[in-house]
Amino acid sequence: MAALSPKQVVIVLDFGSQYSQLIARRIRENQVYCQILPYDIPVSELSSISPKGIFLSGGPSSVYDPNAPQCDPEIFRLGVPIMGICYGMQLMAHLLGGEVKPALTREYGFAQLYTDKTADLFEEKEFPVWMSHGDNVFQLPEGFEPIAHTDNLPVAAMADISRKLLGLQFHPEVVHTPAGKNIISNFLFRFCDCSPSWTMKSFIEENVSQIRSKVGKDTVICGVSGGVDSSVLAALINKAIGEQLRCIFVDNGLLRKNEAAEVIETFRNDLCINLHFVDAGEKFLGRLADIVEPELKRKIIGDEFINVFQESARQFGDARFLAQGTLYPDVIESGGVSHGPAATIKSHHNVGGLPEDMDLELIEPLRELFKDEVRMLARELGLPDKVFKRHPFPGPGLAVRIIGEITQERLDILREADAIFIEELKTSGLYDQVWQAFAVLLPLKTVGVMGDERTYDQVIGIRAVEAEDAMTADWAHLPYELLGRVSSRIINEVRGVNRVVYDISSKPPSTIEWE
Ligand code: XMP
Repeated sequence: MAALSPKQVVIVLDFGSQYSQLIARRIRENQVYCQILPYDIPVSELSSISPKGIFLSGGPSSVYDPNAPQCDPEIFRLGVPIMGICYGMQLMAHLLGGEVKPALTREYGFAQLYTDKTADLFEEKEFPVWMSHGDNVFQLPEGFEPIAHTDNLPVAAMADISRKLLGLQFHPEVVHTPAGKNIISNFLFRFCDCSPSWTMKSFIEENVSQIRSKVGKDTVICGVSGGVDSSVLAALINKAIGEQLRCIFVDNGLLRKNEAAEVIETFRNDLCINLHFVDAGEKFLGRLADIVEPELKRKIIGDEFINVFQESARQFGDARFLAQGTLYPDVIESGGVSHGPAATIKSHHNVGGLPEDMDLELIEPLRELFKDEVRMLARELGLPDKVFKRHPFPGPGLAVRIIGEITQERLDILREADAIFIEELKTSGLYDQVWQAFAVLLPLKTVGVMGDERTYDQVIGIRAVEAEDAMTADWAHLPYELLGRVSSRIINEVRGVNRVVYDISSKPPSTIEWE
């Protein structure tokens, strides 16, 4: 289901940059709607969208590579303002008759940019920028002039103001270019004539009416986990069709301490949505007995979830629609917009991953949104803080936080330890400062001493990370006092644990979860 038909749209043509999504997010931060499209979209299709502006992303290629990705040069004749970034600038120069050559040395990292003209783009005379390129523009195409340089680079930015074509050799979208936000806003509002109309308020209005007209008098089934995405999804659909929404919440026996009760309470009392609760812990744990391999755990949990969900959904035999919390990054990745085969590190499972043979039509109202926009939507829908400030929790739950075999005893230990850590983190006021925090149980026993007794007990690992989007993460530098308190409380209060360690690995090369 197309979530929305915004009147104004800016396009990011993706040439394989790791930063394409970041460009899109920066545009959206200006309350301007944008979409990422593959670089080779036919120009007729592009012009039928009537974009207000186009960004050409960076990319790993050189314009002279035999298979270098190229857009149709006709796009420069559409009369639409275009900003080329890094490879995008080189391609613009190349396709319009300029000359691009390999630089003597690859430039990667900070450079000081000196502006030669404000070009309606730059606010300061000089500022630091982030560079990452091997080629440079040596000769400008006709009609262009240089508008900025660095010590190494005579043309660090170029413009043909009359045709509204601009090129930046540096990356305005990354945080390492602090002036980048302004440059992007200036392009959107001064060149593209955009207005800041992409707000979550307008998103709700349009989606509520679209959902109503699509669903009519039929019923929608929605799987919820208590996480931000599925809660927002349910709240939005509930706003549109109320009682015609049937929410199913599966307890897989792998939830945290008191989690099932809290989710039910939040849905019933805060969101006024009735949940169909399925207690399937025994089924899941039965199938997970003796399973140690992480991918196998994930597959079993994903598979069992589908069984349980299908069985409960059968009770709502009259349902015609299934709501899924697909987000924009999933759409981009599955739509072949991103380039190059990505290795499967972990097969993610969440409540959205349901089989096609359910014979239900999909409703995916969040498919236009980035994660930070989902949080804004949560706020706009009036969801309580505890929902949209909640840390992410993986679909396979505590199964991927118990290293090795999952037993009821291990689950009990982990739940207690995790609850202590989170309680202390909240008390210290740091819960909202970190992306995610949790405890893991290691399948080892080590020697300790309690009173005068020798102990031989389990190890708990605690992990807290800072991240913007979980693609990369750094371990959080929590205060030693807090770590000390958490450790001593866990060892004293949780039977079976005599050692606590703090995980100080970043992602990459580690991942956030341990399995
Ligand atoms: P990793 O461990 O891959 O995790 O660095 C990145 C983020 O994704 C969450 N995660 C999952 N979320 N289903 C989910 O819905 C999953 O199977 C899953 N595995 C990991 C993880 O908690 C972190 O926020």
